[in-house]
Amino acid sequence: MVRRIAGESRKTVVWPDRRLSDLLGIELPIIQAPMAGATGAAMAVAVSESGGLGSLPCALLTPGRARAEIGTIRQRTSRPLNVNFFCHSVPEPDPEREATWKSRFAAYRAELGIDPSSSTPVPDRAPFDDEMCDVVEEFRPEIVSFHFGLPESRLLDRVKALGCRVLSSATTVAEARWLAARGCDAVIAQGCEAGGHRGMFLTDAVASQPGTVALVPQVVDAVDVPVVAAGGVSGGRGGVAAPPSGGGGGRHLGRPGYCRRLRIGGGGRADRHGVSANRRVDDIGTAPRRSRAGP
Ligand SMILES: Cc1cc2nc3c(=O)[nH]c(=O)nc-3n(C[C@H](O)[C@H](O)[C@H](O)COP(=O)(O)O)c2cc1C
Repeated sequence: MVRRIAGESRKTVVWPDRRLSDLLGIELPIIQAPMAGATGAAMAVAVSESGGLGSLPCALLTPGRARAEIGTIRQRTSRPLNVNFFCHSVPEPDPEREATWKSRFAAYRAELGIDPSSSTPVPDRAPFDDEMCDVVEEFRPEIVSFHFGLPESRLLDRVKALGCRVLSSATTVAEARWLAARGCDAVIAQGCEAGGHRGMFLTDAVASQPGTVALVPQVVDAVDVPVVAAGGVSGGRGGVAAPPSGGGGGRHLGRPGYCRRLRIGGGGRADRHGVSANRRVDDIGTAPRRSRAGP
């Protein structure tokens, strides 16, 4: 397929391998990385309308809110949609651990004049459950992606019975094999450059996550399904350079993808970070930073 990468250079790019595009029913092998709390319906519509795969992160949404957002997307585009969920084990409250965090940050709190006994409200990050599965059954998104492994097989079977393609993130070769063995249709190989949530689930040894360039070819060799490169992939040239060659895969564009030279047509409505869906966005800091582990 021959396609121009908009907004990057005037070169024509040939995507030699359509495995992922055909699997997901999209024109360009580019997936909008779901980023909970950062993007919603407007960005998903804009990306899907541009030929990539728009994603709606649902980890911070209630089922009602997810229903409303997916409903909006379905009204605005008939193209394939990825709906994304966490499936982590919810950590038990641990006052001792919380106290340790607080003491580590005590100096900063003092500097900023924040009451050391105050707690910071954080939104719930709920794992995929029956209620969210009901929402999936209602809207039947073409793709459902997970972070932190996969949900229990009872829920996964419900999703698969709808005909949804299932994707999940792997941060190591072992995780990629684990996902492929459980029926993932494609694996997102998330290197340690990736921002936000590090999707580790078989280990919490943070140092076992290689960088994207090292991880992706190893995952390609380890699994038979298409592999999607994630972590620090930036703009059209970065997308072309991202390394899933031979893996029939694509690119997962998170912070740099939104914020650099990927022109996204359509919509025009800003998502939460003021990322407008119809203009070039070069103005948000995108330096790779260390991911943090866990949900
Ligand atoms: C703010 C933020 C929130 C994220 N939330 C999610 C999420 O809800 N679900 C998910 O699968 N991945 C999440 N991720 C990971 C991205 O999907 C993706 O793997 C990562 O951003 C790719 O790295 P990049 O930002 O360098 O492109 C998040 C990333 C960021 C930066």
